[in-house]
Parts: sequence; C-alpha cells; structure tokens
Amino acid sequence: MPLKIAILASGRGSNAKALIEAIEAKTLDATVQCLIANVDGAPVLDIARQHGLEAHLVAHRGLSREQHEANLLAILEGYEIDYLVLAGYMRMITPEFLAKFKGEHHFRILNIHPSLLPAFPGTNGYEDAYHYGVKVSGVTVHFVDEGMDNGPILLQEAFPRLDGDTIESFKARGLALEHQVYPKSLQLLAEKRVCFRYNPMLKRSYVEVKAHVPC
Ligand code: GRF
Repeated sequence: MPLKIAILASGRGSNAKALIEAIEAKTLDATVQCLIANVDGAPVLDIARQHGLEAHLVAHRGLSREQHEANLLAILEGYEIDYLVLAGYMRMITPEFLAKFKGEHHFRILNIHPSLLPAFPGTNGYEDAYHYGVKVSGVTVHFVDEGMDNGPILLQEAFPRLDGDTIESFKARGLALEHQVYPKSLQLLAEKRVCFRYNPMLKRSYVEVKAHVPC
C-alpha cells in the first residue's frame, strides 16, 4: 500500500519537488494527497500544480496561530493521510495540532533539517554550521514532537565541508543531499522498516531501521 502523505511547505519547494519526482520515478511508494502552502505566491504551489497535485493556499498572515491551524486541519481532514511531511515549513506547530497526528509511538509528522541534529537546531542550520567551522555537516529527517527540531531521528546523512567552500557551495551540497535523504526516509516508512525503541536513561524514543523485516 503506498504511503499517503500531505506536504506542508512555505517557499521554494525543492524538497517537495524531490519527493514528487521520486514518486513519479517509482523510487518512493507514496501518493501526495495534497500540498498546502502558508505563503501566497510560494513557488511550491506552482510545483505541485505542474505535477497535477491538489494544492491549497492556507495563508497565516493576519491570523492567530490557532485560527491558522484550524484552517489547515479543516483542509487536511478532507484527506486520508498517513504522514504529514514538512518540507521547508517555516512555522512552529502547537501541541494541539500535533495531537491530531498522534500515532502509536510518535506523531505522524516528519521534518527535514539542514544539520546533523542535535547540532545546530533553529532556522539557519547551514549558516550556523558553516560559520562555526565544522568539517563535516549533514541533514536530518526526524519525527516532529513538542520541542524544536527535537523528535526521534529517522535518517541522517553527512557531507564534508571542502577546502574553498563558500556558504553557497556548502548549502548547495547539503540541499542536494536533502533531496536524496527525504524520499529515502519516506520509503523506509512505506516499507514498514521503522521501529520505535525507548531509552529509559534519556527518557527518549529513538528509531531503529530494520534491514528487511517489518517491525
Ligand atoms: C531546506 O533546507 C530544509 O532543510 C529546511 O528548509 C529548506 C527548505 O527548502 N527545513 P525547500 O523549500 O524545500 O527548497
């Protein structure tokens, strides 16, 4: 059964595009039920429409967070969705919204972050890592929880900082990696290879990816 996803995005949409193209190329067994953007004129809306997907603008401007999230849920409730996939969605999500996506062990919301979490959380992952002077950075796909960039990590991949890298070349290398890692992460879910474990010392759930067998 293909994984049913909805995508929530704010801007450029290169990750949304990578996911859509992976589905079209049949390397990701999923269907995009709909895409929602919160910013009027966001290029991601055109990307979705060009690929024949249902795209909605649910603008946050001028609304309280609660009202905006109620509008999002009103649309999302019209679709059957296994996972809500954040792809450059630049807003925090409230615990009330999260609760609507409660799964057995985790919330059914995923995010991609431009650093090797828990290093460099926040909105400028690439810039923060680059200016810190890291020699290796990376990208992280994680389940979303109440904390910022905090939920259980599903997949991480690293990339090197090369001699002569500028912030632009560093970011471009990271973004190209994001476009591989996000579809790969979702495919693990589609194949039911994502198992949740609990670490009582840290009081944290973490993910174990199984090689073949479903959990
Ligand atoms: C990506 O770098 C992603 O990791 C971060 O926001 C950026 C979104 O880019 N959360 P795009 O809109 O997918 O091109």
